[in-house]
Amino acid sequence: MAKPQNAFVCQSCGAVSRRWQGRCDACGAWNSIVEEAASGGVGAQPAQGARKGRVFDLAKLGETDRPAPARVLTGIAELDRVTGGGFVAGSAVLIGGEPGIGKSTLLIQACAALARRGERVVYISGEEAIDQVRLRAQRLGLSDAAVELAAETSVEDIVATLSRGARPALVVIDSIQTMWTSLIESTPGTVSQVRGAAQALIRFAKSSGAAAILVGHVTKDGQIAGPRVVEHMVDAVLSFEGENGRGLRLLRGVKNRFGPTDEIGVFEMTGRGLQEVANPSSLFLSARDQAAPGAAVFAGMEGSRPLLVEVQALVAPSPLGTPRRAVVGWDASRLAMIVAVLETHAGIKLSQYDIYLTVAGGLRISEPAADLAAAAALVSSLSTIPLPADAVYFGEISLSGAIRPVGHAGARLKEAAKLGFRSAALPGAGEREDAPRELELRRLRHISALAADIGAKRAPRSASASASRAPQSAREA
Ligand code: TYD
Ligand code: MG
Repeated sequence: MAKPQNAFVCQSCGAVSRRWQGRCDACGAWNSIVEEAASGGVGAQPAQGARKGRVFDLAKLGETDRPAPARVLTGIAELDRVTGGGFVAGSAVLIGGEPGIGKSTLLIQACAALARRGERVVYISGEEAIDQVRLRAQRLGLSDAAVELAAETSVEDIVATLSRGARPALVVIDSIQTMWTSLIESTPGTVSQVRGAAQALIRFAKSSGAAAILVGHVTKDGQIAGPRVVEHMVDAVLSFEGENGRGLRLLRGVKNRFGPTDEIGVFEMTGRGLQEVANPSSLFLSARDQAAPGAAVFAGMEGSRPLLVEVQALVAPSPLGTPRRAVVGWDASRLAMIVAVLETHAGIKLSQYDIYLTVAGGLRISEPAADLAAAAALVSSLSTIPLPADAVYFGEISLSGAIRPVGHAGARLKEAAKLGFRSAALPGAGEREDAPRELELRRLRHISALAADIGAKRAPRSASASASRAPQSAREA
């Protein structure tokens, strides 16, 4: 038998090479390659010699002899929404997030909520001592919940312990980076250890029917450190995000084999742990300066839920040859496109101006439907005309300047009406949404109509701005 050769594994992306090198060819990371024992790879069986294939039964796609998998509802609505109606029994979920964002807090709260519903719940910490976990639970007022605790890092010990007694409904492993398996010879935290440990825990979840939650740390650039490979192995990946300075926390589905991935759960970190935010729109719109030019309220969608959020723009004359363009929570190339469309199709000259665009509240918007709100904020800031405080905006802008219809117009309008808005600028064509009666709908077919829409609302403060825009809008509108 050939002598088993060691492999050189990139700790950043998991690529395997035959020799050590300073830079990984696959992902370009420097000094990330570590020598690992090649034998006993993940899921590898001990070498047994040739084995004859076993014949198994094939199932039919439409067969319904199995009931839908059982769900473990925590009762924390924002969490259950993101998982698509509770954790699925026998599944594995990876929750990623930066250190200190609140993963442990969220999960101990979820454990306590489940335990109070009479489920067996086990929380295993590889990072904190039992007393630390207890202290946190005390602070959160969860000491009465019958959550079982352990501070362990050996996967074999954990699986052996959990296999005894009643099947737990939920097992939390905090974090997967601290776990190690004796099957693999490298140090804990390396790609192969993390992968091996995850494999063993996922196998336990599948065979026992417990839902396993693996916590994964995330590096500064948002990657789940090391175990990106784990993302492929688990059934769902959730990401816990937020600004550390502010209390707002978003739980976002990244991958979900049992539900949607575009749902978000909104929490606020308080002195008593994470509180659910049932009406995020009002949170995102609080502290809004309604009379300031350059702010537009976007009626957006996050998954199945409408979400109103303020888009802010600042357009300022630039002393630079190449003006600055900066975005927060938005896509820079999308901004460049809107600026180009405004210049070409609405005659609004922005090339001499620095442009800053931010989404308030730390939210990240990826919906093209936000184009119209961003354009309205830009035009408002340039002309120093504040947008009406009771107006919302949504619509996708195409390169031809046409404002294209977007989905869920009805839900967006309903949310706006619910929060007291009285008018909406929206695409001219599209689904005939049943709009709430109290909303005045301003249908815009082309970007050139936007300037007129904003200018017509109120006498412009700046005479030069209105003079340069008026003929343009009159010609095209
Ligand atoms: P933690 O759950 O330990 O983060 P992670 O597991 O993602 O590393 O959260 C730690 C932070 O949360 C810490 O900076 C303090 C803050 N926090 C509160 O503000 N209120 C609370 O009730 C708790 C328990 C933590
Ligand atoms: Mg933690």
